[in-house]
Amino acid sequence: MDEEYDVIVLGTGLTECVLSGLLSVEGKKVLHIDRQDYYGGESASLNLQQLYEKFKPGKEVDASLGRSRDYCVDLIPKFLMANGELTNILVHTNVTRYVEFKQIDGSFVFRYGKPSKVPATEYEAVTSSLIGLFEKRRLKNFLQWVANYKEDDVATHKGLKLDIDTTDAVYNKFGLEEGTKNFIGHAMALYDNDEYLQQPAREAVERVVLYCQSVARYGKSPYLYPLYGLGELPQGFSRLSAIYGGTFMLSTKVEQVLYDEAGVFQGVKLSLDGEEHVVKAPQVIADPTYFPEKVSSSEKVIRTISIVDQLPLKNGETSAQIILTGKETGRKNDIYIALIGSEHKVAPQGKNIAIVSSIIEGDKPPHIQLESAFKLLGIKAFDRTFMGLSDLFAPIEDGSKDNVYISKSYDATSHFESVTEDVKDIYFRVTGKPLKLTKLEEGEFNAQA
Ligand SMILES: *[C@@H]1O[C@H](CO)[C@@H](O)[C@H](O)[C@H]1NC(C)=O
Repeated sequence: MDEEYDVIVLGTGLTECVLSGLLSVEGKKVLHIDRQDYYGGESASLNLQQLYEKFKPGKEVDASLGRSRDYCVDLIPKFLMANGELTNILVHTNVTRYVEFKQIDGSFVFRYGKPSKVPATEYEAVTSSLIGLFEKRRLKNFLQWVANYKEDDVATHKGLKLDIDTTDAVYNKFGLEEGTKNFIGHAMALYDNDEYLQQPAREAVERVVLYCQSVARYGKSPYLYPLYGLGELPQGFSRLSAIYGGTFMLSTKVEQVLYDEAGVFQGVKLSLDGEEHVVKAPQVIADPTYFPEKVSSSEKVIRTISIVDQLPLKNGETSAQIILTGKETGRKNDIYIALIGSEHKVAPQGKNIAIVSSIIEGDKPPHIQLESAFKLLGIKAFDRTFMGLSDLFAPIEDGSKDNVYISKSYDATSHFESVTEDVKDIYFRVTGKPLKLTKLEEGEFNAQA
């Protein structure tokens, strides 16, 4: 091992691995360290044995669940938007060669006591059971407007100004009802509360466009998911980094972080086989757990992982996202349910993984806060459910003073758009230039149906 690098990266979560890969490809000399003996940190996928050790320590694994190694269970459930930025990064870096993807069968929103498909095309809008006859026309007009909107063509704007008019004003222009606004904002634009309604409409419209374009790409839903779980993603990017000369050290503890008198990062002290070792670099990228003194937390996310025999879906879907909006459940924040199973090779035949997540509100115990989701899933006892609470950490400073660049925790959203925002933001701060991605061409990215 050398003594000097261009960048030291601590933690092998997805954000860190993507950055490690991108910087290695550019010729930077990267040293990548993790204290754990596996890749992925919070974005790892665990087998059944590991799942029990983490969440039910000392408890014997339920033998009726099948073989431990047939499970790859995510700690943080997220799906890829087919047309989203992570897909672009995967294509840009060729990491698509190491990971295989499969579509998610459905995108649902809970209404009138059951999950209903989220209509994303004009055809689906007019046939949807979610809304009444007259509302169908209005939704169709809205989706048509979104699809045809062109920034440089005023004729397509319908007199709306996306940087000034609020999203609510845009909805009102099309005469949309509250219930319709609710599923557009929460199940298509994927906001998990209603604050966006009073903000300028541009971001919401862009999110709806991303949703519709992602659905248009493969048809069933806007979402993709890797075979064998999300843990495949950090591993794929680590492999990219290693191909371009990155050095990886797992099971390695950072004994001390070294700073100069002004508090600027200098390097780390490691202990290897009982010997102290100093490695230097002008910059460090790390997940929040490596610098607890430099991060703060405002919210907590609850995530529960359940192994279930049956899915609450009517048309043979084997995977889906179901959103229970705050309006439906009397909460401020939405509840997300991610359903995946043997088709995506994360559970044995006949078993499925249901991951429920939301932002914690107040101090009622988690199983009460997520009651409506458990009811929908038919879960009454919790012997096959694993519960975890995690803080959402964010760096206090941007790293310009101390050269310590810290990623954000993976939030409660059900897709990777906020993770890739963080990747691009850190990339800009570390290199001083924006990340340029080659544009996704039709047919460059394939996912199984
Ligand atoms: C991806 O593959 C293409 C074609 O083989 C190659 O030109 C390009 O350099 C590769 N990109 C990376 C980041 O390895």
